[in-house]
Amino acid sequence: MNQLEMKKAAAQAALQFVKPDTIVGVGSGSTVNCFIEALGSLRHQIKGAVAASKASEQLLVRQGIEVFSANDVSGLDIYVDGADEINPQKMMIKGGGAALTREKIVASLAKNFICIVDESKLVDVLGSTFPLPVEVIPMARSQVARKLVALGGSPEWRENVVTDNGNIILDVHNFKIMNPVEMEKNLNNIAGIVTNGIFALNSAATVVVGTAEGTKIIR
Ligand code: A5P
Repeated sequence: MNQLEMKKAAAQAALQFVKPDTIVGVGSGSTVNCFIEALGSLRHQIKGAVAASKASEQLLVRQGIEVFSANDVSGLDIYVDGADEINPQKMMIKGGGAALTREKIVASLAKNFICIVDESKLVDVLGSTFPLPVEVIPMARSQVARKLVALGGSPEWRENVVTDNGNIILDVHNFKIMNPVEMEKNLNNIAGIVTNGIFALNSAATVVVGTAEGTKIIR
């Protein structure tokens, strides 16, 4: 199986967690795009979806799935999304697609986060292979970058990228995130950072991994 086939297999397997008559939280990215396509087969059984990006919203509509605003729901049963890295404690780095803020908002509405990944996303320590995305208010870019350097990181401005919320992304290299919960909290306290891409305070409940040998479910 190549990487796309592994993503598709994980996306397809995640359908087993979708309950009838519910509104499904849907993240963003290439793996989620496969999930949205698969979810189309359940469009008559679910009530609809809340999307974490404009791109996902468009794909859901194309599948004939009604899209609700996060303001219209008081809670979700599940939130399905990919990750850039995931560790054995099911904590993640997300934001490679710049949608981390809306992803954190929709994920926090859900009882269970179902993470769908191909096996290349599994790491022992977060930050090993992927820089940490941080969404920043544009006027705070330089001061936030200095604070990230003081914490040992090497921030790089993702130029030409504006988030769905009108903000910028700094990708922080060289962070080995040994204590993800503490790091997520510390970054939350820096003025000018809207959201950091560590998903540790709300980690995944279940990971569906597409591997060369087939799909594995980690609970
Ligand atoms: C989007 O901002 C991200 O959090 C994605 O969920 C993450 O980058 C995984 O993307 P892929 O499924 O495209 O690898």
